[in-house]
Amino acid sequence: MDVREQEGKELARCLHDDFGQMIAAIQLKVMLSRQLCQEHRCNEAMAAIDEVHGMTGGLIDAVREQLRKLRHGHLETVGLVEAIRALIGDWRHSTGINIIFSKHGFDGAISESSETVLYRVVQESLTNIVRHANANHVEVELQRTGDQIRLEISDNGCGFDLDAMPAGMGLVGMRERVQAMDGLFQIFSEPGKGTTVICQLSTGQK
Ligand SMILES: Nc1ncnc2c1ncn2[C@@H]1O[C@H](COP(=O)(O)OP(=O)(O)OP(=O)(O)O)[C@@H](O)[C@H]1O
Ligand SMILES: [Mg+2]
Repeated sequence: MDVREQEGKELARCLHDDFGQMIAAIQLKVMLSRQLCQEHRCNEAMAAIDEVHGMTGGLIDAVREQLRKLRHGHLETVGLVEAIRALIGDWRHSTGINIIFSKHGFDGAISESSETVLYRVVQESLTNIVRHANANHVEVELQRTGDQIRLEISDNGCGFDLDAMPAGMGLVGMRERVQAMDGLFQIFSEPGKGTTVICQLSTGQK
């Protein structure tokens, strides 16, 4: 199956399983709200309408995510550098944060699994910056030296105390992914001094 066919299949699956199921659930909730109104059970009707509101928000996010994939293609189709560029472009556009991307010596093939891990680290780090950092300047740097790749993402935001860090899945997940490939994952942060995430991986076999 070629990439286009694969993407078409995934879109069909998403339309059917995800969107179809979400829309059906919204339709049911709307009918329930209508019935509650008819029975003058206003508080319950309002709670049901609030749920509909939340569900439509979820649907909008899911549609946006699918559109993003269609517009930029998948990582496998466009390659790591273009996929990172597209991701950064999206965040820059939706947040107004000045995000700078630079790459050094980054020619030649790297393994699909290394590409995926590096992309996920950029994705989670940028999501964290937007959610937690309150930064206005971010640098994403990709560097290749021989068969080693170094990725660094730094922001000038609020930083945080690594010892008092609230538990989240993002940082743990990044570390696990990188270490599973025998790579090195580091995070440096201090309140008021921004945050830097560094990941070093081997290019692996292509
Ligand atoms: N760039 C950053 N700037 C400031 N604080 C950060 C940054 N990155 C992470 N943090 C802090 O570290 C915590 C843990 O991050 P982590 O990604 O593990 O979890 P999360 O973002 O809270 O939730 P999720 O599981 O959805 O990723 C965050 O809650 C936040 O307090
Ligand atoms: Mg996170």
